[in-house]
Amino acid sequence: MVSDDDTAYPGAIIPLHYHFNMLNDQIRTGRFRQAIQAVVVPGSKVLELGGGTGVLSFFAAQLASKVWCVEKNTELAREARRFLDMNTHGDRVQVVNADAFEYLPPEPVDVVVCEMLHVAMLRENQIAVIERFKQRYLAHFGLPLPIFVPEASIQTVQPVQQNFEFSGYYAPVPIFRDPYASQAMTLEMGAPVVYSTLRYEASLPMRFQWEGEIPIATSGTLNALRFVTKNILATLPALAPSPVKNILAVPSVHQSTAIEWHNQYLIMPLASPLEVHAGDMLRLAFSYPAGGALNDLASSLTVAMK
Ligand SMILES: C[S@@+](CC[C@H](N)C(=O)[O-])C[C@H]1O[C@@H](n2cnc3c(N)ncnc32)[C@H](O)[C@@H]1O
Repeated sequence: MVSDDDTAYPGAIIPLHYHFNMLNDQIRTGRFRQAIQAVVVPGSKVLELGGGTGVLSFFAAQLASKVWCVEKNTELAREARRFLDMNTHGDRVQVVNADAFEYLPPEPVDVVVCEMLHVAMLRENQIAVIERFKQRYLAHFGLPLPIFVPEASIQTVQPVQQNFEFSGYYAPVPIFRDPYASQAMTLEMGAPVVYSTLRYEASLPMRFQWEGEIPIATSGTLNALRFVTKNILATLPALAPSPVKNILAVPSVHQSTAIEWHNQYLIMPLASPLEVHAGDMLRLAFSYPAGGALNDLASSLTVAMK
């Protein structure tokens, strides 16, 4: 059985103290700041959906002329206003205590920032919020759509052998791991396989459904699957090697650099571990709704050796 706090945690209600962890995660804030600096040009109009403490709106306000920061949680919206008033150009940000599923800015915007991301697109409403926003926006303002930060997300699944022992106590529970730390308790048993690639400006799936085969490269006990979500926050044209020689060169797609940020990895235990051998073929299938609970994914997993 997989149990989690999803019923008390419907995506909109992140406990306030959790925002300290998000503010304190310098990789997260640093990558978003880089991406926002790359796409927001002086004078831009920016909309942030799910603004939290207002930190990403603050980054945008250093360049933008106007930022709307939409936050559903009233207490948090009040705190965001208070913090923004303590920071440079905070006055360029209008905090709006509203539902991102319904809000439309009063005028077209150049950039939309939305960090309602969670590994495997579970538990938060990134996909539905952006999809619904695009429909409202196009109906009201028409094309072009704004630039989205992040612009894309790539999701993979990988067979692993996970050590589920905690100070001698065996407990196979879903584990979230810092992607930028050592993964010493996880043995990779095969390569990660991409099961979803999303571009936020394009049509987004409301369900992730995958069925396929993954070759086993390492013998051992396959007792978990690792889900990884990599977000491409923005893509920058690479700097030309020599500005003099390449003054007229237009960077090709291959010369671009992505500003990436990974959500925490999810290690999902399997109900029945399997002994596997290098050269075996794993058959895997799952189907879960975007924004669903951990259990939606866990209960849909079917794993067998071919
Ligand atoms: C992962 S937090 C990110 C907060 C902030 N953008 C940051 O990067 O620190 C997502 C935020 O979205 C807010 N949120 C969730 N659902 C929302 C909705 N339907 N409308 C507006 N805000 C929402 C949550 O309250 C939370 O503050």
